[in-house]
Amino acid sequence: MVSKSPRKFFEPLAVGAPSPYRELPVRLERMIHFVPPHVEKLRARVGELAKDVDVVLGNLEDAVAVDSKEAARAGFIEMLKTTDFGTTGVWTRINALNSPWVLDDITQIVGEVGDKLDVIMLPKVEGPWDIHYLDQLLAQLEARHGVQKPILIHAILETAEGVKNVDAIALASPRMHGMSLGPADLAASRAMKTTRVGGGHPDYKVLADAQGDEPRTGYQQDLWHYTVAKMVDACASAGIKPFYGPFGDFADPAACEAQFRNAFLMGCVGAWTLHPSQIAIAKRVFSPHPAEVAFALKILEAMPNGTGAVMIEGKMQDDATWKQAKVMVDLARQVAASDKDFAAKAGL
Ligand code: GLV
Ligand code: MG
Repeated sequence: MVSKSPRKFFEPLAVGAPSPYRELPVRLERMIHFVPPHVEKLRARVGELAKDVDVVLGNLEDAVAVDSKEAARAGFIEMLKTTDFGTTGVWTRINALNSPWVLDDITQIVGEVGDKLDVIMLPKVEGPWDIHYLDQLLAQLEARHGVQKPILIHAILETAEGVKNVDAIALASPRMHGMSLGPADLAASRAMKTTRVGGGHPDYKVLADAQGDEPRTGYQQDLWHYTVAKMVDACASAGIKPFYGPFGDFADPAACEAQFRNAFLMGCVGAWTLHPSQIAIAKRVFSPHPAEVAFALKILEAMPNGTGAVMIEGKMQDDATWKQAKVMVDLARQVAASDKDFAAKAGL
């Protein structure tokens, strides 16, 4: 593979554009909450909403009808001009690169409110070429409009081609923030025989072996296991953040929680919330469990320099479990800094 020299990798792509970050800004991003910016009633409430979520995302792509595309973009720009988001992340999901709206999405948003925007979510990313295009264009626009901090790119992993190229996408630019699994488009792209937005499927299962005439039990499996694992490895090795995407059945909070928890356990840092009822679920799932935090703190205390082997409550601990404990405690401290309830429960 031909790639840029290490020195060039961190150079701004346009004269006058801000330098790319060498480390991602430290931010809690347990949920990316989707808002339809063309709906005035919701726009009016976004300041209140921002106090309750880690990230507000103005959605311009799928779920916004063709005749509302311009209104959604204008609504998003107005929202950014009139709302104080405090420390809450401000993102947008623009339309796909082959759509008739995307050029105006990018040029108008960066031109008018580029300094207030943290991350652009790019749908239907197929390979590093998509990231390179947006990277270059953003640098030119940042330079033209005097944007002071680099706008990051978050890719949606939702085509078979994208999954095939996931490593190259993760490494394509220092502007990469992370990636979300998009199970609805990915299912369509792969010709999976489902009609759902995320979650499991009752027919995707393993059947227990036959034991005479005993009834045989089927064990449902996770349809998304392979893709989440592949995405987490690509992101973790590139130093960017993996997320689970949407869960479409708002009437099934238990299944939503199970899907989010699988993603959390496998290394994802957050998920999308499409309905207000999913915010509390994401908060609960993507904050570490206080009992796990208490155990992790014991490991760190018992091994102050992170090496050697000790037994705690009958379980062997060594350098590797110390590192797991550190991940848990670092996240717990980050959550505690902005969530007093959690801080009290976790004793931090
Ligand atoms: C999200 O965009 C998805 O397609 O699941
Ligand atoms: Mg999609």
